[in-house]
Amino acid sequence: DNGGYEHYLLKEISEQPDTVARTLRGRIDDRFHIAHLGGLNMDAREIRSFRRVKIIGCGSAYYSGQMGAQLIEELARIPADAEPASEFRYRSPVVEPDTLYVAISQSGETYDTLVAVQELKRKGGRVLGIVNTVGSAIARETDGGIYLHAGPEVSVASTKAFTSTAVAFALLALHLGRVRDLSPADGRRICEGLRRLPEQIKEILTLEDRIRELAKKYADSPGMMFVGRVRGYPVAREGAQKLKEISYVHAEAYPASELKHGPLALISPELPTVAIVPDDELLDKNLTTLGEIRARHGRILMVGHRTSEAADDCIVVPKNEVELDPILLTIPLQLFAYHAAVALGRDVDRPRNLAKSVTVE
Ligand code: BG6
Repeated sequence: DNGGYEHYLLKEISEQPDTVARTLRGRIDDRFHIAHLGGLNMDAREIRSFRRVKIIGCGSAYYSGQMGAQLIEELARIPADAEPASEFRYRSPVVEPDTLYVAISQSGETYDTLVAVQELKRKGGRVLGIVNTVGSAIARETDGGIYLHAGPEVSVASTKAFTSTAVAFALLALHLGRVRDLSPADGRRICEGLRRLPEQIKEILTLEDRIRELAKKYADSPGMMFVGRVRGYPVAREGAQKLKEISYVHAEAYPASELKHGPLALISPELPTVAIVPDDELLDKNLTTLGEIRARHGRILMVGHRTSEAADDCIVVPKNEVELDPILLTIPLQLFAYHAAVALGRDVDRPRNLAKSVTVE
């Protein structure tokens, strides 16, 4: 039942204040500023033994993993990175005992991710799952994990599972961090930030009319560039993925810092840029990048925490803690892709050539 919404996708985007709250429910410890994650099946001694975190998943799950890697590095100071599950599996990976492996899957049935998990287990790897569907294949194969509790996701393009996965990673990063060196003050700051997310998502959803207008304005471009730096880069990648999947507008995501090393050659009035520009320590660098795009007559839609003269249009979202801002910055891009797809008359919930979960090789 699509709850009176025209598409499941819009319903699922709109549910996010609630789904994020469900991912958080009962998991924040306000006394010790740590996360309760009973499903991890890991004690403090084991958590301290990990030297590295490797995250795998496919599609949007992979991009949420990139966001997760960033959170773990920042909060727990453990080197972490994400890789597409199928790439990981086919390159015959070296499996190390002091690496924590994390597999992400909304459905819990994606074949490439499942086989990668099985390969890890065979080689003695310690694997956690971040999964939405309770009792699914990946949930059963992993040693422990975090359920999203986001409810069934129907539309092919992932939205609420993406944000809940990022929230689950924030909880995991907080947990790993507090067992290691993250200070109680920083732990408290993150706990308080997490609690603010549902209300702030509601605020972002009120921007829908304006985002619809912007989507109409940009949807007839032959392609769009998405750029972000560090925390903003996974946001850019997921934003480009959403646009491609449901509107079929070509979209490329680049680290903003890489623009001048190649893709700047593409910038012209026909290729607008969506720039993710959070108010963080990289703000000035990002604004400089906008100037470089402007100088090549590129149009710019900036998504961030303030407006800027350097951009043609701006979407301003509420500010949280710098580590958690990427979660919020993702939401206007979901709405942007949705309304671009509607404006172009696409089959929003069932985009051509795609399946909700790919259970074959
Ligand atoms: C793709 C879907 O095929 O699978 C994506 O089209 C999804 O939307 C990806 O992100 C991974 O799915 P899952 O269920 O493993 O998270």
